[in-house]
Amino acid sequence: MKTIQDVNLQGKKVLVRVDFNVPFDKQGNISDDTRIQEALPTINKLIKDGASVILMAHLGRPKKGGFEPEFTLKPVAEYLSKLINQEVVFTQSLLGEEVSNLCKNLKAGQVMLLENIRFYKEETKGDVEFAKQLAALGDAYVNDAFGAAHREHASTATIAQFFPQDKYFGLLMAREVENLNKLMNNHEKPFTAVIGGSKISSKIGILESLLNIVDNLVIGGGMRYTFYKALGHSIGDSLCEDDKIDVAKSLMQKAKEQGVKLYLPEDSIIADDFSENANIKYVDTMDIPEKWQGMDIGEKSVKTYCDVVLSSKTILWNGPMGVFEMKKFAAGTNAIAKAVAEATDKGAFSAIGGGDSVDAIKGSGYSDRVSYISTGGGAMLEFLEGKVLPGIKAIE
Ligand code: 3PG
Repeated sequence: MKTIQDVNLQGKKVLVRVDFNVPFDKQGNISDDTRIQEALPTINKLIKDGASVILMAHLGRPKKGGFEPEFTLKPVAEYLSKLINQEVVFTQSLLGEEVSNLCKNLKAGQVMLLENIRFYKEETKGDVEFAKQLAALGDAYVNDAFGAAHREHASTATIAQFFPQDKYFGLLMAREVENLNKLMNNHEKPFTAVIGGSKISSKIGILESLLNIVDNLVIGGGMRYTFYKALGHSIGDSLCEDDKIDVAKSLMQKAKEQGVKLYLPEDSIIADDFSENANIKYVDTMDIPEKWQGMDIGEKSVKTYCDVVLSSKTILWNGPMGVFEMKKFAAGTNAIAKAVAEATDKGAFSAIGGGDSVDAIKGSGYSDRVSYISTGGGAMLEFLEGKVLPGIKAIE
C-alpha cells in the first residue's frame, strides 16, 4: 500500500477524500465525532509536511442536486477548526473560479473543507468530467475515506485516474485495511464472530463468507427469529423475514458442513409491545407466545455467548443482540461489550464495526479495551465479504 507515510508532500495542494458522514443530535451538535477524530492523523501529517490540505466529504444522502441546508458540512468545518487549532477554510461550492482561486491561494499547512460533495449529482454517478474538474484543484490525491470506500463515486474512485503518480492511501485507510486483513487472513483461533442486527437480508454476504473462516458464529438481534422460524419455532410478533427462511436454513446447513458451531439464543426477553413501557417477561425457550415479541437475548444465552467470546483468540462483533437503544433491552448487548473487552484484556484480537455495535461499545464504556473499532459500516461488511472496494482498487 502506498500511503502518505511513505512521502513528504511539502508544497503540494493535496486533495483528501475523508468520511465526515457523522451523526447529529436534535440540537444540531455532532453526537459522535469518531470519523473526524480518526481522520486527524492524516490531516496532521499533511500539515506537518507543509502541504495545503483540501478536504472533500459527503454528509447524508441529499437527493435534490444542489444545496440543502440540513446536509451542509459547515458545522463539521467549525468542529474541525477547534480540533486542529486553526481556522478551516470552508467553501460553499466545489467548482468555479472562486474555489479554484481559494485553492491556489491556500498556504502551506492550511486546511480547507469543500461543501458536501453530494450536492452535485455527478458525485454518486462517478462522473468522469466532474472528477476531472475536482482533480484540477490539487497536485496529489489521498483517499482516507474507508467508510465510503465501497462507493464507486467521483471523489472516492473516479478521481484517482487523474493522479497516476500522486495517489496515496491515508493513514486511517491503511489502518483499516491492515486490521481487517489481519482479521481475515492472519488470525489466531478460535475465531468467533458475533453477528446481530435486525435483518438477515443485510448480512447474507458476510454470514456466508464468515462460515469459511470462523470457528464459532454467534447470532443475536432481530435476525434470529428468522432462524427460529426456519427451525419450526413459533415467534409471536417478533421480526421475521419470511422470504429469507430458506437462507437461514442453508446457512445452518453450511455451518454444519464447515464444522462451524452456530449459536442461536436459547432464551429471550420478550415484550407485548415494541416500546420501553411494554410489559416484559422472560421465556426459557426459543418459542415466543402469540402477541409477544422478542426484544433481547435471555440470561442463559448471555452466559453461553460470553463464555464463547471469553474463550476466543479472535473476535469480530457486528450488530447488537437486542433492542439496545431501549435501556430495558440492552443487557444482552452490554454483556457482549464487556466480554469482548475482557477477552481483549486476556490477549484476544477484537474488531468491532457497524454503527450500532460501535455505539454500544462506546455507550458501555469499554471502547478503549478493544483492539480495533472500524469507521466503516457497509464498507467493512463488503471488505469482509471479500469484495474489492472501488475506493481501494482506485489507489492500488
Ligand atoms: C457510511 O456512513 O456508511 C458512509 O459514509 C457511506 O455513506 P452512504 O451509505 O450514504 O454511501
